[in-house]
Amino acid sequence: MKAEDVKTIGMMGGGVMGGGIGQTLALAGYKVIIRDLTDELLEKTRSSIVDGRFGLKGGVERGKVTQEQMDAAVANLSYTTKMVNLRDVDLLIEAVPENLELKRTVWAELDSLVKPGAIFATNTSGFAIGELNKAVARKDLFLGMHWFSPANIMRLVELIHAPETSEDAVKALEGVCEKAGKVSVRVKDAPGEYGFIANRIYYAAVAEARKVLEQGIATEDDINKAMVYGFNWPVGPLAMASGARRGFA
Ligand SMILES: NC(=O)c1ccc[n+]([C@@H]2O[C@H](COP(=O)([O-])OP(=O)(O)OC[C@H]3O[C@@H](n4cnc5c(N)ncnc54)[C@H](O)[C@@H]3O)[C@@H](O)[C@H]2O)c1
Repeated sequence: MKAEDVKTIGMMGGGVMGGGIGQTLALAGYKVIIRDLTDELLEKTRSSIVDGRFGLKGGVERGKVTQEQMDAAVANLSYTTKMVNLRDVDLLIEAVPENLELKRTVWAELDSLVKPGAIFATNTSGFAIGELNKAVARKDLFLGMHWFSPANIMRLVELIHAPETSEDAVKALEGVCEKAGKVSVRVKDAPGEYGFIANRIYYAAVAEARKVLEQGIATEDDINKAMVYGFNWPVGPLAMASGARRGFA
């Protein structure tokens, strides 16, 4: 499967990430089928994609998206509770809750259902790909695709490859990221570590900021100011961690 062969994308899970990723990919011209457990959950997904804080309507109001682009994205999206509707997708992205057993169960089911040759990408925040790919036979087509929240705004996507992942699969996802206006980076799978590049570095900085605070050598406000004015961070490490800005998982 090459990037240009990817036309239809299945999204497993229509929560915060599944909705945002689905929205982004539909806007980029892909047909996207979002699968979640109930019609009520899918209605929430649909409404957050269209009317939500980072949704399409707001994008049109802010001049980021034209009405035509929004209409095309809405037409590209479909919603289902039925697994069988994912059978013919070219790429399947999984964004179910961060639970290793759940993800493995979901992937095993998808592996037996989805057509051979389709690429499998997990949006796990940190599980090793070598732990998740145990659930599937197509290990060459299995990799991590770690988006950041809100997915339609944050530009980074980390692509995590295990030793079994094929170069073609990584390249195909690089092409998908590029078409969706994202910046992708490659990361080698590191079993035993949780997280990839950005979150590992970010949480290390937050831990150090907390240590500085605990040592009583600077106030929370001054620690935040130090990073904002010394390193041009958009917001200080303790402001981010306290939820002043969300979306770091
Ligand atoms: N929220 C973030 O900022 C963020 C950022 C990057 C990565 N992630 C990762 O993305 C994944 C999803 O996170 P989220 O924040 O979107 O979670 P969420 O709880 O908002 O959404 C998960 C969705 O998956 C659905 N689900 C559960 N089991 C399912 C199944 N068998 N089939 C289909 N859908 C199912 C749930 O009903 C829910 O709607 C996690 O692995 C998380 O670690 C989250």
